[in-house]
Amino acid sequence: MLSTKLVVGNWKMHGRLSDNAALLAAIAAGLPPGDAVRVGVCVPFPYLAQAQAVLAATPIQWGAQDVSAHLQGAYTGEVSASMAAEFGATFALIGHSERRTCHAECDDAVAAKTLRALDAGLTPVVCVGETDAQREAGLTEAVVGAQLRAVLAALSAEQVARIVVAYEPVWAIGSGKSASVAQAQQVHAFLRSVLAETSAAAAGVALLYGGSVNPDNAAELFGAADIDGGLIGGASLKAADFLAVCAAACA
Ligand code: PGA
Repeated sequence: MLSTKLVVGNWKMHGRLSDNAALLAAIAAGLPPGDAVRVGVCVPFPYLAQAQAVLAATPIQWGAQDVSAHLQGAYTGEVSASMAAEFGATFALIGHSERRTCHAECDDAVAAKTLRALDAGLTPVVCVGETDAQREAGLTEAVVGAQLRAVLAALSAEQVARIVVAYEPVWAIGSGKSASVAQAQQVHAFLRSVLAETSAAAAGVALLYGGSVNPDNAAELFGAADIDGGLIGGASLKAADFLAVCAAACA
């Protein structure tokens, strides 16, 4: 378990320059003092420059929500990891379930994107999670284990130590129906054991929980033994809610 928790906002496809400025300023102003919690926001690509300009003088880090599996070249519409890095990004979400579902991202693509992010000096936040049907069928560990192992198999031990893993049950994302603490902890403990198979250092990789985290359930979730923080969607778009989640991570 990390001593300092990590809370990362995932804005998804939300934002406007004026709204972003107000949101980022409010978060920066209300952040818990000191280094009691590490905070990041993953913004749409066009807003990386704005995040850099507004947050550079604050402890808040920023990142992208995806990167290309390719280094550069004729890939119209894609954005490379090194481009995000040029705007000072720290994080890149990789393999979010919305990417896996809407853009047919397979485990191989997720592994390739993780490598591109690492090569560019970014911290990949590798997302794994099962659907409702998979959980009902008793396949949760098989699904998230396969998703994580596909990434680990492509990385060296040194690289594994530089990733963050986010467990996001697909049924909990944006549904208002978070996993219970017991459900989340059980999967986190399993993911921790899968990481530990690769190296001792890997067992220390930060494991975030994501899926309907809000000010009411954050403290309880973050209190679980293997939950090192959260990946926050809807609640990251309202300064008061995001700050309350960050405060819960300091408890
Ligand atoms: P949510 O989204 O907090 O709105 O459920 C989490 C995510 O998709 O990262």
